[in-house]
Amino acid sequence: MNDSELITPEVLIPRLGDQLVKMDLLTEAQLQQALAYQRQQAAKNQPCLLGQAAVELNFLDRPTLDRAVTEQIVRLRSALEDANRNLELRVQLRTTELEEALRKLSDLNQLKANFVANVSHELRTPLTHIRGYLELLQTESLGGLNADQKKALEVSLRSSNRLQALIDDLILFSLASRGELTLQLRPVDLNRAISLVAARATPKATERSLTLAMEIGSNLPDVQADEEKLSWVLAQLLDNAIKFTPPGGKVTLNVTREEKMALVSVTDTGIGIPAERLKEVFEPFHQLDSSATRRYGGTGLGLALVRQIVEAHGSVIEIHSRPEQGTIVSFPLVFSLKNE
Ligand SMILES: Nc1ncnc2c1ncn2[C@@H]1O[C@H](COP(=O)(O)OP(=O)(O)O)[C@@H](O)[C@H]1O
Ligand SMILES: [Mg+2]
Repeated sequence: MNDSELITPEVLIPRLGDQLVKMDLLTEAQLQQALAYQRQQAAKNQPCLLGQAAVELNFLDRPTLDRAVTEQIVRLRSALEDANRNLELRVQLRTTELEEALRKLSDLNQLKANFVANVSHELRTPLTHIRGYLELLQTESLGGLNADQKKALEVSLRSSNRLQALIDDLILFSLASRGELTLQLRPVDLNRAISLVAARATPKATERSLTLAMEIGSNLPDVQADEEKLSWVLAQLLDNAIKFTPPGGKVTLNVTREEKMALVSVTDTGIGIPAERLKEVFEPFHQLDSSATRRYGGTGLGLALVRQIVEAHGSVIEIHSRPEQGTIVSFPLVFSLKNE
């Protein structure tokens, strides 16, 4: 049976007329006559069933017809049961096929994650050599440089730094997608971590004529976190805030104390995100403006990883935004028990 065929009684068992002929209750000629009679009655707007037509033409009596109809019903019921069993079998078969496809897909996903991890690691080594030599050239340890050469070196170094950041993101992303994101949780002095991150972000903020402000409550206890990954998260949030805020705006890194937690937030006065698109920003490789890569750089991996890292800390990340007004991204961190 074809998938697209509807299950009608005719598909399952012969029609009553054919059945009556088969049971030797009607001859083929009588069946044709009964069918013709049925058509006549229908034309007169007095439609009748085939069995009824045969009875009216005195080809068979009512009790015989009733018995034949009952038999037909019994046969139909058992045919339906068969069809149901068949359907169940087919569903089982499809389910097994789908399960197999799903397994293959997750194997492929695993393969992809491994592939990304391996390739990224392989890219890291030659890039380290390139950067090493570029830096050596820049310090003029290998000989003096003229202005053009210095400029060319600067561009090369900036590009290789970007490449390095990209590879680091990819490694982190493949680790996270393999569920291998491990944290080294220790008491972290937020003041110190934030100053370091802010110092690194300052040149970019200045370049874009933005004010970069730090607002950190005094006597803040240490938080329980993986310092390296937390710094990476803060750097990503600052990077986004700086990228998506037009010149003259302000980016603020704020930490407030709330009971047993520190609430960390990065606020900007930038282009903002429409409410209906807020969820998308955490999807990997997703940028709201597809021309963003060209205009602002980035891979769309930042916030996906930020969320994974924040959640690995047992925290949740929140984002609030208004187009043309700005964005605020925040998450709480618990204080380290050592403080108490
Ligand atoms: N502070 C922000 N203001 C406006 N849009 C933002 C902000 N942060 C993130 N976005 C949007 O979310 C997208 C994803 O961010 P992210 O994952 O960090 O990727 P990337 O920075 O590589 O573009 C960005 O491309 C941008 O469209
Ligand atoms: Mg980003």
